Amino acid sequence: LVPKDLVGRRIVVSAGGTREALDPVRYLGNRSSGRQGVAIAIAAAARGADVTLIGANLEIDVPSSIHVLHVVSTLELAAAVELAARDADVVIMAAAVADYRPERVAESKIKKDEHGDRLTLELVRNPDILATLGESRRPGQVIVGFAAETETDRDRLLDLGRAKVARKRSDFLVVNRVGWNEGFATEGNTVIVLDGRGDIVIEASGSKASVAGRILDVLARPGA
Ligand code: C5P
Repeated sequence: LVPKDLVGRRIVVSAGGTREALDPVRYLGNRSSGRQGVAIAIAAAARGADVTLIGANLEIDVPSSIHVLHVVSTLELAAAVELAARDADVVIMAAAVADYRPERVAESKIKKDEHGDRLTLELVRNPDILATLGESRRPGQVIVGFAAETETDRDRLLDLGRAKVARKRSDFLVVNRVGWNEGFATEGNTVIVLDGRGDIVIEASGSKASVAGRILDVLARPGA
């Protein structure tokens, strides 16, 4: 039986991976499928939350019962999250966000006869949506970040997570390992959830649906 412990909570979840256009037909992107974020949105809705899913290039179907806003680039995601976060109780940034975007988007296809054997792309930093949420949050609003890292040493992985949760001022950080065969686009996931002080709250491993449930258990606790 699904507990209805999130009734009345307004939860915004971002999922997927942003794409940054290079020209009308090409982009820089990442391998996030959106599975973990979508699993959180589905589980939160089943537990009674009022869910808005902001999907960046999702590779999976979303049940029609979930309200989805589709975005492509990081700037579009930033605008959608900023708006949706205004009256959200919880914001969960599960999307893999491009840290950089091309400084210029070519109006027409970039041609190899114009560039020869080398092409240099100039990239500029994207805004950090999670850090902005952490700075501008209302009292009582809960901000959850994700940290997908390729670090294989558990202690160093935790150190990266602790530094990130402090830098981004989030209330919780879901740390998971990603790699060629781990994390992105896979069916299962293994995560460590840190609180705002960097202490371990839970460790969870299993299907993305079960990991979603464990993360929501933390958010449903009184005082979270
Ligand atoms: O710094 P890093 O990209 O590892 O942080 C990951 C977390 O920050 C994720 O929750 C991601 O959604 C969020 N993020 C963001 N804006 C960025 C980069 C990451 O909100 N520009």
